[in-house]
Amino acid sequence: MSDEIKDWWEKAAKDYQESGQLPVDIHYGPSSPNEDDLGLLGDLAGRDVLEIGCGGGQCAIAFAKRGARAVALDISEEQLKFARGLAADHDVNVEFIQHDIKDLAPIGSESQDIVFSAFALMFIEDRLSAFREVFRVLRPGGQFVFSLDHPFYRKVDPESLTVVESYHETGPAYDEMEGLGKMLIYRYTVASLHDALAGAGFQVQRLIEPDSRIRYDYDPWFGLYGYYVPKMLDMVPPTVIFKSLKPAD
Ligand SMILES: C[S@@+](CC[C@H](N)C(=O)[O-])C[C@H]1O[C@@H](n2cnc3c(N)ncnc32)[C@H](O)[C@@H]1O
Repeated sequence: MSDEIKDWWEKAAKDYQESGQLPVDIHYGPSSPNEDDLGLLGDLAGRDVLEIGCGGGQCAIAFAKRGARAVALDISEEQLKFARGLAADHDVNVEFIQHDIKDLAPIGSESQDIVFSAFALMFIEDRLSAFREVFRVLRPGGQFVFSLDHPFYRKVDPESLTVVESYHETGPAYDEMEGLGKMLIYRYTVASLHDALAGAGFQVQRLIEPDSRIRYDYDPWFGLYGYYVPKMLDMVPPTVIFKSLKPAD
């Protein structure tokens, strides 16, 4: 299944980067405060930070600009090509690695202070085993911070504002992204994310559902893909964020 998702991203990467025009910044997703406003990660100077599912590298580059040793991994060659060009434009050093999140084989055990991910973990079928890999690469006391689609947002039709599928329906599904076509994701509930984190050994510290009635002038997704439209955002949050800790023994 990762092959289908990889192929989709190879084709969609150019449009995704052109339509999104994502700024170099630590973002968490549609209708969400960014890191400067949320403050989940703390001081990044001198820290080892791994981004999984880095896309065009905007967050990884922002980590490096704040003094982190940044490593960033993505399955898509096209996304990484864009990311490497952007890092060169910003004159920062980020190690970009083409690899599947489902195992983090290129990353040493207990080598990272922070693992970060923005809107990539919906593409992972077995999140428990991916979270175990994140646990392995973090140092004791390390943080795992990620955002992804709030699962309820995908259950509501943006035109009619009606619920079109049970919240409890999980597993593979296709999402129609205006301009980008049908995209395979793996559905989940908020509770299943929590349980996968706990099952991997993490202590969940924060679960954030940003109030999507608030507008942020830096939100690059607002209005995009026929999906992040005001009447939906006023009713349902599109983003959920978890902050977890690998306990220090
Ligand atoms: C919605 S984009 C988000 C990218 C970036 N984090 C951002 O905020 O713009 C999702 C990214 O996840 C990557 N991805 C999907 N499945 C993956 C996998 N199994 N392993 C690594 N990366 C994956 C895609 O190639 C894509 O770049």
